[in-house]
Order: sequence, then C-alpha cells, then structure tokens
Amino acid sequence: MSLRLTDVTAENLDAVIALPPQPGARSNVAPVVMSLAEAYVTPTAWTRAILDDEQVVGFVMANWDPDNEIESFRAGIWRLNVAEDVQGMGIGAFAVQEVVAEARRRGVERITVLWEPGEDGPEGFYLKQGFVPTGEVLFGEVVGAMDVPPAAS
Ligand SMILES: CC(C)(COP(=O)(O)OP(=O)(O)OC[C@H]1O[C@@H](n2cnc3c(N)ncnc32)[C@H](O)[C@@H]1OP(=O)(O)O)[C@@H](O)C(=O)NCCC(=O)NCCS
Repeated sequence: MSLRLTDVTAENLDAVIALPPQPGARSNVAPVVMSLAEAYVTPTAWTRAILDDEQVVGFVMANWDPDNEIESFRAGIWRLNVAEDVQGMGIGAFAVQEVVAEARRRGVERITVLWEPGEDGPEGFYLKQGFVPTGEVLFGEVVGAMDVPPAAS
C-alpha cells in the first residue's frame, strides 16, 4: 500500500462521503458527511482523507483546541472511518500515526480519543495503538489517552 493523507477537496468529496457508514445506518462512528458538517462549524477541527495511491480508503478527523474547557477535548482523534473492504490492512494504524505526527508538529504532548464501549467497537484497535483508558466516561464513551512519543531520530 502507498498511504498518505490529503485535504478533503471538491475532487475527492464524493469518495470521502461514500465511506461507511451512510446516514441512518447503525454504527459506532458518525457518517463522514456529518463529521464534515461538524468540522464546518468547528474552526479547530482538522479533517483529512486517507489515500492509497489515488484511491480514497478512509477519513480521519482530529481537533486541536488547547483552550477547550474539557481537558479530553483539547487534542485528539474525533473520527476515523476506514472503507470496509480494506479494514484490517493497517490503514487505521497509519491514520493514528499521522495524527500523532501532527500533534508533535504542534507541540502537543498528549492526545485523546473517545470510543463506544463494547466488543464489537474499536476499543481493541485503540488499545493496540497505545491509548490507555483514563477512567473517565464522557457522553457514555470511554476516554483513552496517549502521550505523544518523541520523534524517532
Ligand atoms: C476501527 C477501524 C478504524 C480500524 O481500522 P483498520 O484499518 O481496520 O485497522 P488496522 O488494520 O490499522 O488495525 C491495526 C491493529 O488493530 C487491530 N484491530 C483493528 N480493528 C480492531 C477491532 N475492532 N478490535 C480489536 N482489534 C482491532 C488489527 O487486528 C491490527 O492488529 P495488529 O497490529 O496486531 O495487526 C476500522 O475498522 C473502522 O473504520 N471501523 C468502523 C468505524 C469505527 O469503529 N471507527 C472508530 C470509531 S472513532
């Protein structure tokens, strides 16, 4: 695979919003069209399409909001959607690493993510990426946090 992040643009928008889930479907993550709408009204949101070569294979949204009154919302992953036919191939892990790299560029030392508890959710995935539950539950979701490791020399 040849993975990279790119901005969401007029050219890739259709492919980005075609990622699962579609509006109305049962899922533990929001439809991308909803995430993009939230990003439109959230100036601190950071959205990227995940490409394999020129093909859209996922979407990731982070938020960089150091002044947020809720500590767990100051820096971290808000959404991550990987196309169904390419799940389990390392794309989600790549996206987490790219968010970690962006955090490092911004001088952010700790990032968070919230996930719905339950065996069919992404908990196992986030634990494998190095997030550790803080013990906090926000809006019914588990809060996980990770210290941003220094850049490899
Ligand atoms: C959860 C999700 C983002 C993971 O992305 P992915 O590209 O399929 O995951 P990767 O291939 O990068 O997996 C990395 C590792 O996590 C493991 N993993 C992936 N999904 C997992 C899950 N749901 N539970 C436990 N482990 C999981 C993989 O087996 C792999 O393990 P390895 O390092 O030992 O090989 C993706 O499956 C997805 O989009 N799911 C639906 C939406 C969702 O739940 N999003 C997250 C909510 S914000």
